Amino acid sequence: MQFSVTPAQTLSGNIRLPGDKSISHRYAMIAAVAEGDSRIENYSGGADCQSTLGCLRALGIGIDKDGSTVTIHGKGLDGFRAPSAQLDAGNSGSTIRMLSGMLAAQPFPCEIGGDESLSNRPMARIMTPLREMGAVIEARDGKFPPMRIQGAKLKPIHYEPPVASAQVKTCVLFAGLHAEGVTSVVEHVQTRDHTEVALREFGAEISRKGPVISIEGRPRLEARNLAVPGDLSSAAFFLVAACLLPGSNIVIEGVGLSPSRTMLIDWLMAAGARIKVLDVAQTAGEMVGTIAITGREVEGGVIEKAVTAALIDEIPVLAVLGAASRKGLTVRDAAELRVKETDRIATVAENMGRMGVSIEVTVDGFHIPGGQRFRGAAVDSFGDHRIAMAFAVAGLAADGPTTVHNADAASVSFPEFYDILGRLRG
Ligand code: S3P
Repeated sequence: MQFSVTPAQTLSGNIRLPGDKSISHRYAMIAAVAEGDSRIENYSGGADCQSTLGCLRALGIGIDKDGSTVTIHGKGLDGFRAPSAQLDAGNSGSTIRMLSGMLAAQPFPCEIGGDESLSNRPMARIMTPLREMGAVIEARDGKFPPMRIQGAKLKPIHYEPPVASAQVKTCVLFAGLHAEGVTSVVEHVQTRDHTEVALREFGAEISRKGPVISIEGRPRLEARNLAVPGDLSSAAFFLVAACLLPGSNIVIEGVGLSPSRTMLIDWLMAAGARIKVLDVAQTAGEMVGTIAITGREVEGGVIEKAVTAALIDEIPVLAVLGAASRKGLTVRDAAELRVKETDRIATVAENMGRMGVSIEVTVDGFHIPGGQRFRGAAVDSFGDHRIAMAFAVAGLAADGPTTVHNADAASVSFPEFYDILGRLRG
């Protein structure tokens, strides 16, 4: 599918967003190993979170769907059965990396793989700790999907991942859930903590002392009824669009405001965005609230060190903002961008070039001078959801029509994106 976007003056309206992708994955996986039926409202309709449901079904878990409400018939920690074919994680790094933590503890062997993009994403980061816990894992070329996992009775470990990654942390904690004793993960750069919050909600004993997160193995997890907050990473596209189009007024209700994710809001406000956060409340351990933004031009800034890890998914759309900002954007310490759904440094640079925007690329980041104007052009998602949406947003501020090729990639995390954008244009 192609998406054609014409320049917009302003965007305005009140919206609610589909459920957070990260939280949806975690609720589904944890509910599957809890005892009894969990009802999850506002479950993400994105293809990635559907891949998680598909894998859980193939592992023998009953799942009913009614719109965006999903009921998972959990079977406890030992309830999975051997799948009859390779598990398909589709495009989803979260599905393959997080679920592998549970697969590593099963008494049967299984294979898990995905699409072409996923088949080129690094898995050594989870294979190393899972092997240390006792699982036998083989992968294509020793490091890429598909993986063949021969589960084992796992032993707990104390693990310090070499990369800041919530997926790796979750994988080890999910494996630790199945091991007798205490498994811990050391995290010097904090990543999103939805796993810790959700595990606690389902009844696990999990604690954090300084950088060390510890989980007590073999708990009895109880089914829960939960509602997934709106996805702040999806909100990012509209927050940036508002900054690009002064005079815009957008209110986003019911959005997840986990302190481990709100660096986005802090960074935008520090760059000069006019944002108000209202009606903040806690549900099931997650902060949820309303974000109101009034469009105005921003200064730009730097993204580096721990901030890079906190904003990793938002960098493509912040790059778009950077080009239109007064002073531009510098991104450092972002080598991880090169191993996302696409090499996001390369795909951002390619589309910026097509839109006539200059960008200097480094090994682990880029610099985009400010005060630039987007030229209407033909850009491509390269099959990457966040690249599709970031450059649809760039098209709103361009000097002529823009076509996003392979725009349907957005449905990996946010199938409703183009409709909601259309509504905000009025
Ligand atoms: C995610 C963690 C991040 C992020 C991804 C979702 C998660 O990946 O980029 O979109 O839900 O834990 P890494 O753990 O690889 O940094």
